[in-house]
Amino acid sequence: MSASRFPNLFLLEHPLIRHKLTLVRDARTPSHEFRRLLGDISALMTFETCRHLPTEEVVVRTPMGDARGSRISAPVTLVPILRAGIGMTDGLLALIPEARVGHLGIYRDEETARPVSYYSKLPSDIAAGPVFLIDPMLATGGSAAFAATELKKVGCRVRMICLVAAPPGVERMLREHPDVPIHAAALDDRLDERSYIVPGLGDAGDRIFGTR
Ligand code: PRP
Ligand code: URA
Repeated sequence: MSASRFPNLFLLEHPLIRHKLTLVRDARTPSHEFRRLLGDISALMTFETCRHLPTEEVVVRTPMGDARGSRISAPVTLVPILRAGIGMTDGLLALIPEARVGHLGIYRDEETARPVSYYSKLPSDIAAGPVFLIDPMLATGGSAAFAATELKKVGCRVRMICLVAAPPGVERMLREHPDVPIHAAALDDRLDERSYIVPGLGDAGDRIFGTR
């Protein structure tokens, strides 16, 4: 369902996702639980976000005869934004094991919250199929907008999967990348003075990797 304020935002509000997201948000949840829950939510989100994957008809031989079926007809590429996007990647791969994984390394400057790019490794034929840009947090939208620009430069059609989105990030993506649908588990209230999402879940990378 598209949240009416933002035509580019699709909220996945399944009871299981909401339950697990609530546990993820809880500041008492330790890193090993945080990682497991984030993986579960990512797999659950994959089910809905893959609804648009292109398919083609095929025929397979069962022990009893021929059966018409279908298969995904183009190579899917997952592009996690390092670091925190790594925490969602295995959840998606659990359901799309054939997917390739490209990486974009981007972090936010702590003073300005502007994105700093430090790494890129993408499949050479990435534009041959759909691309999922993965990052649990969409705050100012600086990182996601930068990543979407890089992916579109090489001809990609992009969908974004994130866990928690904030209005400024969704607005920025709508302004700069109206063609990129965003699938999120929650739309939160606002950003604080350091551009962290409130209520959010804190620093996703630190909580995934136990680095603070
Ligand atoms: C976090 C998060 C996003 C970005 C979102 O990364 O994983 O990439 O911030 O914020 P934005 O929408 O304002 O750009 P962070 O900079 O903390 O890097 P890390 O994953 O390496 O910790
Ligand atoms: N990055 C995070 O990890 N958390 C936020 O709330 C905002 C950006």
